[in-house]
Amino acid sequence: MTNSARDILVTSALPYANGSIHLGHMLEHIQTDIWVRFQKLRGHNCTLVCADDAHGTPIMLKAQEMGITPEQLIADTSVEHQQDFGEFLIDFDHYHSTHSEENKELASSIYIALRDAGHIKTRTISQLFDPEKEMFLPDRFVKGECPKCGSADQNGDNCDNCGATYSPTDLKNPVSAVSGATPELRDSEHYFFDLPAFADMLQTWTKSGHLQNEMANKLAEWFEQGLQQWDISRDAPYFGFEIPDAPGKYFYVWLDAPIGYLASFKALCDQSDSLNFDDYWKPSSNAEVYHFIGKDIIYFHSLFWPAMLEGAGYRKPTAVFAHGYVTVNGAKMSKSRGTFIKARTYLEHLNPEYLRYYYAAKLSSKIDDLDLNLEDFVLRVNSDLVGKVINIASRCAGFVTKRFDGTLSDTVVNAELAQEFMDAGDSIAALYEQREYGKAIREIMALADKANAYIADMAPWKLIKEEGQQALAHDVCSLGINLFRILIVYLKPVLPTTAAASEQFLNDELTWNSHKHVLTGHKISPFKALMQRVETDKVAAMVEASKESQAAAKPTEAKADEAALSAEIEPIADEIQFDDFAKVDLRVARIVKAEEVDGAKKLLQLTLDIGSESRQVFAGIKSAYTAEELEGRLTVMVANLAPRKMRFGMSEGMVCAAGPGGKDIWILSPDSGAQPGMRIF
Ligand code: MSP
Ligand code: ZN
Repeated sequence: MTNSARDILVTSALPYANGSIHLGHMLEHIQTDIWVRFQKLRGHNCTLVCADDAHGTPIMLKAQEMGITPEQLIADTSVEHQQDFGEFLIDFDHYHSTHSEENKELASSIYIALRDAGHIKTRTISQLFDPEKEMFLPDRFVKGECPKCGSADQNGDNCDNCGATYSPTDLKNPVSAVSGATPELRDSEHYFFDLPAFADMLQTWTKSGHLQNEMANKLAEWFEQGLQQWDISRDAPYFGFEIPDAPGKYFYVWLDAPIGYLASFKALCDQSDSLNFDDYWKPSSNAEVYHFIGKDIIYFHSLFWPAMLEGAGYRKPTAVFAHGYVTVNGAKMSKSRGTFIKARTYLEHLNPEYLRYYYAAKLSSKIDDLDLNLEDFVLRVNSDLVGKVINIASRCAGFVTKRFDGTLSDTVVNAELAQEFMDAGDSIAALYEQREYGKAIREIMALADKANAYIADMAPWKLIKEEGQQALAHDVCSLGINLFRILIVYLKPVLPTTAAASEQFLNDELTWNSHKHVLTGHKISPFKALMQRVETDKVAAMVEASKESQAAAKPTEAKADEAALSAEIEPIADEIQFDDFAKVDLRVARIVKAEEVDGAKKLLQLTLDIGSESRQVFAGIKSAYTAEELEGRLTVMVANLAPRKMRFGMSEGMVCAAGPGGKDIWILSPDSGAQPGMRIF
């Protein structure tokens, strides 16, 4: 870690103000927020700003459709967006709007600077015009027959049927998607930003470590094709800012959108004592500036934006970080499948930290797409967070509170293990810094496995009952709680709410440096459940709720999905009496050891601790679990099943699991707090 605090400004792309935030947007905001929280935790001056992108034709038309003003629409959307982000724990220092005074002033002054430096050109172009609506039509608002294959109802720029790309004037029998009228060609003078004038600067800049390799390669292709002048004006009627020296002409939404980053920061500086706009944006600035964006808007951020900044006398970003797209269950988010999930719908069903963790666990610094597999999501969160991390505290806290007056012991019983946890801090920090969150999480979970294995080995629940071993039990549980504490330091950027609850439990405020010491003789608070397990039916309900409004759209697809689901439900078995059920002795069991069995493709050999004794069970779950992910976990076993002699040895009971088989096997887990040996009714 560097000694001096860095000044860092971070942005996420500005979401459009005509739609709701969905889980695709959330990938970007969660990625950004984790990075910012990490920097803040390390003591840097890191500032996160964002805004709604409020201009453009779609917003103007949507407001008209709703019978409200665009100002009303964007005000309502802004409230909704900020509520969604807030509940996902996105910690903006400021959230602004591109339809603001600050942005108007900055956009105008940047335009004037570019114009005065000779970077703005004008030229007359012909465009399709809707004579009924009296407006020029953006490509996506013209429909017609494909000029190549003749297929009907195609968009103005490309054909869904044959994949051809063309310009809207090539469409046969074009109609305006706004009014249904037949568009006509009209001339209009447009304003252009002279991007080619910046080609040399951009070629150098894009190759100088400001961009990910994949992005730099993509740009090399664009340079080869040659840079074009960029059309930055739109004719009235348009919802946006009028161009200062051109009445009736408006800035194209993408001209003032990135300037919205500056405007949001400016508005923050105006209300802050410590932040100074020029310190961050003058060419001589020592501050760092980073933009987190999706892969679809690379062109704007790595070509137009740096060129505009350079041309208008500002510094350029330190780096642009692009991420891939979210897919759900391996496919593009789909309204008919219920996988186009809005942030709000998610929040109505599930804890935001589950998604923060899942995205973190799968994120890298690359531009690859990220699949939100809903089954894997449930398994991963339950097994990692609840089964591994929280489990450490819940196993150890009770003893410390009840037997040792809530005070941690004075000795560190296994200093080597504690040291290993502390030493991991530097490499985990380096991974966060490089946005390799998935790798950081893997390191953290490997430590959690070690903590659980240590506790299982030492079995404090046994020591506590043995004569003369009480102090050792105290030491073991105290170390367990300290190991948990270090893991929470490392997870704090990802799980702010759980970290806050853990801080209360630990009576200790955690900063990044907290991992450098162990708490001894320290009073803790009684343990309360820190996180509930993800419930599969809540996930299903979320998908169902995402389908509802769209069910009519593509009924066949939705119905096929439903049929597939219901076919798997087995009929309920014949009725039994309670006495019949009571014959089955189900116990909470800890999987102390899980091993592969030589010569058995499907079996894992499990050693189960059921409090009073240890059992060996051969379970046919190898197709769904690895040995490592099982060790340390609690599960449920049938403890009085007659032992069965198998080719590999005796199997002394059975582990309970659900699912048809193959990859789809889910073993049961009790809620945190249950102890090995407890009987289940
Ligand atoms: N308004 C522009 C950005 C202007 S920035 C000066 C815009 N808005 S958007 O609402 O369409 O997208 C906002 C961000 O969300 C973009 O970075 C986009 O890549 C990201 N995502 C939108 N859908 C996404 C997924 N399905 N997956 C991941 N990110 C995606 O573009
Ligand atoms: Zn076609």
